[in-house]
Amino acid sequence: MNSLQQAFILFFLPAVFLTLPVSAADSAAGEQKANSCAGCHGQKGSSTNAQWPNLAAQQSTYLVNQLKAFKAGDRINPMMQSMAANLANDDINNLAAYFSSLAPVKAGGNPALAKTGESKAAMCLGCHGATAGGNGQFPRLAGQHPDYLEQQLKAFKDGSRKSGPMQAIIANMPETDFKALAAYFGSL
Ligand code: HEC
Ligand code: HEC
Repeated sequence: MNSLQQAFILFFLPAVFLTLPVSAADSAAGEQKANSCAGCHGQKGSSTNAQWPNLAAQQSTYLVNQLKAFKAGDRINPMMQSMAANLANDDINNLAAYFSSLAPVKAGGNPALAKTGESKAAMCLGCHGATAGGNGQFPRLAGQHPDYLEQQLKAFKDGSRKSGPMQAIIANMPETDFKALAAYFGSL
């Protein structure tokens, strides 16, 4: 090995590693941390039980907001509050980068109910995105477990989950519409 090659190894190679994109490192750290989430939210953010939402392909801004809300006690759920209590801000950002990078999954929904839901869904898409894939603070609804979605709509309605826009939108909506909308979004 000549001295030029030695210089390359000593000075340039470390620089190559140090300049790897930060986002890739974040997502990898998030993947490690996500081992503690898989028992409920499934492998690769694809949950097999409707009481635990899919996290795959969820918007990263939304994920950060929700984890901070659980941690601060602004969103109430005993399981998630105790999980979020131990997460530092870096963990939250890394987990959000990881889950948002995963391929979306489709929970599916009752076809007849989904058809009814489709006829009522137009008013939701302005915020949740034309294909219900979400946008920033507005969560992805497409492919989510219908039972979970319905549960959240009920929680907004009875005020146990707070969100100005969501509480206003559904204030006068009958709960039968929740079921239909949930089936529709789950089927996307
Ligand atoms: C013991 C089971 C359990 C574990 C472990 C768990 N969660 Fe959850 N998680 C839940 C439940 C239940 C909900 C739904 C809460 C509700 O109904 O409001 C939830 C909801 C969430 C939400 C909100 C999703 C949405 O669409 O609004 C996020 C984000 C989340 N979990 C992230 C995580 C992360 C990250 C981890 C690992 C660090 C984790 N969870 C570990 C049970 C769990
Ligand atoms: C004006 C904007 C807006 C409109 C219109 C809107 N939403 Fe939302 N929605 C939000 C926001 C913001 C949140 C996140 C609230 C939070 O941060 O907790 C949300 C959250 C939700 C959630 C919780 C998702 C989860 O993963 O926990 C569901 C379910 C939902 N919306 C369904 C609907 C449905 C169904 C409609 C149409 C009837 C609708 N939304 C219309 C803004 C909107």
